[in-house]
Amino acid sequence: MEKEDLNLEPVLLHGERDDLSPGLSRRSFFMAAGAAGVGGAASLLGGTAARAQSTDWTQPGNNNGVIELQKTTGSMVEGDVAIDYYGHCALKFTSPGGATVLFDPFRDDPSGAWGMWFKSEFPETPVDICMSTHTHFDHDAIHRPVSTMVLDRMVGNFEFADLKITGFADKHACVAPGWYSWTDALAEFGANACPPDNVSHMDMVVYLVETGGLRTLIWGDNRHNPPEEFWEAVGEVDILTLPVDGSMHILSYEMGDAIVERLKPKVVIPTHYLNETTSYTLTTLQDADEWVTGQKSYRMLDNGSLSLNAGEVAGMDREFLYFGHNALTA
Ligand SMILES: [Fe+2]
Ligand SMILES: [Fe+2]
Repeated sequence: MEKEDLNLEPVLLHGERDDLSPGLSRRSFFMAAGAAGVGGAASLLGGTAARAQSTDWTQPGNNNGVIELQKTTGSMVEGDVAIDYYGHCALKFTSPGGATVLFDPFRDDPSGAWGMWFKSEFPETPVDICMSTHTHFDHDAIHRPVSTMVLDRMVGNFEFADLKITGFADKHACVAPGWYSWTDALAEFGANACPPDNVSHMDMVVYLVETGGLRTLIWGDNRHNPPEEFWEAVGEVDILTLPVDGSMHILSYEMGDAIVERLKPKVVIPTHYLNETTSYTLTTLQDADEWVTGQKSYRMLDNGSLSLNAGEVAGMDREFLYFGHNALTA
């Protein structure tokens, strides 16, 4: 969607502008889309629906590389795992065998209700697999990467080349711990954010990626206190991504610290913070500097790419690797 297409007009619940389409008020759209998901609601929106439909059939390239890589499925290849940060929660992993998977590409909220978050559209970066943890706009632009496969909210097991990915169904954080009570906005529109009767866009999938001898947990916007069976199913984690920023939008410092203490990962990668390369102050997010510099051991990375090896990671203990304002934009 082009920036000029965004509706930045004030949202009136019962006024003249509440005219999205016959039978669908701004309020009902918000209840369906809630804190940023569009999901099925977009299909009711006339012109917006056309833009929301998949354009994957126009993608350049083809699946020749995937055909080659699938011949190696089940093998585990030793070597470096490359991690590229595209800002917010968007991370691309490249396995030692050359398979690529990208998590949580972002977009601005197509309803306009949550305003402009991102400085540009998510890059049309080529990957084998694109995955999303949940249907909120800052995680669900699965149409943007040029990907052979799209695994949206996948629960269960997936194996391809030297990648093994497991999806664990759980729930989104449903009580904002910081000053910005964004979860209260859902209540104002009559949507129940918290389980067990939460609206569907507050469902979450946490992913475990196994490749190169490393187990990486993609936390998404998950709640800090999943049930015991969640922790048991996840098991050991080498690399943990966590959504912690200075505004404590998803998790507070204490919640993040408690998850780190519970999982004792060797590496922690902060996500979902204000990254000046990709996101606007309008996100209400702040950077994660304070949380990171309060840790026992951390490294400020000087670019958006990281390469980790299982042997090197084995010697680390809760080492925070922080991308800061670096991010790839293409
Ligand atoms: Fe979310
Ligand atoms: Fe989010």
